[in-house]
Amino acid sequence: MMHLEVFRTVPEATHRMADLLAAQLEERPGSVLGLATGATPIPVYREIVARVKAGRMNDWSRVTTFNLDEYVGLSGEDPHSFTAFMRLHLFEPLHLAPERTFMPPATGEELEKRVRAYDEQIHVAGGIDWQLLGIGRNGHIGFNEPGTPLDSPTHITDLTESTRVANASWFGDDAGQVPRQAVTMGLATIMRSGTIVLAAFGGNKAAALRRAFAGEITPALPASILQRHPHVFVIADEQAAALLP
Ligand code: PGA
Repeated sequence: MMHLEVFRTVPEATHRMADLLAAQLEERPGSVLGLATGATPIPVYREIVARVKAGRMNDWSRVTTFNLDEYVGLSGEDPHSFTAFMRLHLFEPLHLAPERTFMPPATGEELEKRVRAYDEQIHVAGGIDWQLLGIGRNGHIGFNEPGTPLDSPTHITDLTESTRVANASWFGDDAGQVPRQAVTMGLATIMRSGTIVLAAFGGNKAAALRRAFAGEITPALPASILQRHPHVFVIADEQAAALLP
C-alpha cells in the first residue's frame, strides 16, 4: 500500500516526515530506524535535531539505527564517507551512543563475511521498524542499482556510471573520485522494514518516481519493488510528483 503525499515546498514535506517519525518514536521509543544519506535527508535531519533539542520529539537514547549504505574503502575518518555524513548531521548533534548506530562494514579484513552478517545484526536488534529512503535518478534505493535481484540481501555492489556522476558533487565535481563500489542493504533487507518513508524532491526525480510507483515491478527500476510493501509513505514535492498519474 503506497500513501502518496505531495507538498508545495521541501520544508513542508520535511515537517511531515518529522511528524511521521515523531509518531513512530512516541509509540515505540526504542525503535530501530533505517537511515539514509544524500542531499534529500539533510533538511529532514536538521528538523529532527531541532525538534529533539527543543523537546518536541522523543529523545533518541533508546533508538538503534542502521544505515543503508557506505562506500567500499572509505573509513569513518574519511570526510566523504557516509559514516562521517551521519556523525555530522545526526549522530553527534543527538549525542547518539556509537554502539547504537550501525553502518555497513566497508573496510578491513573479511569484508564479504562481515557484509553478509549485517542483515543478521539487524535481525538481532529486532528488525527495522521505520526506514527512511531516497531514490536515485536511475531508480535505485540504497545503492541497489538497476539489475539488482529483487530478493537481494545486504551486499557489495558496483556503482553505475550514472550514480558516480550524480554523486560527483560530493567529491569536488569529479566523478573519477567517487568510489567504484559500495555496500548496500539489499532489496530484501529494505522490504522487511515495518514502515518505509521515501522522500523525493526536485524535477530530476520525477521520471524515477513515476516508473517506481506507476510502472511494472522490475529489477530494471529497483524502487518498483516497493509496490509490494504494505506500508510505504511517498513524500514528494510538486516537481518530483509531476509525472505521477
Ligand atoms: P540524493 O540521493 O538524496 O542525494 O538525491 C538519493 C539517492 O541516490 O538515493
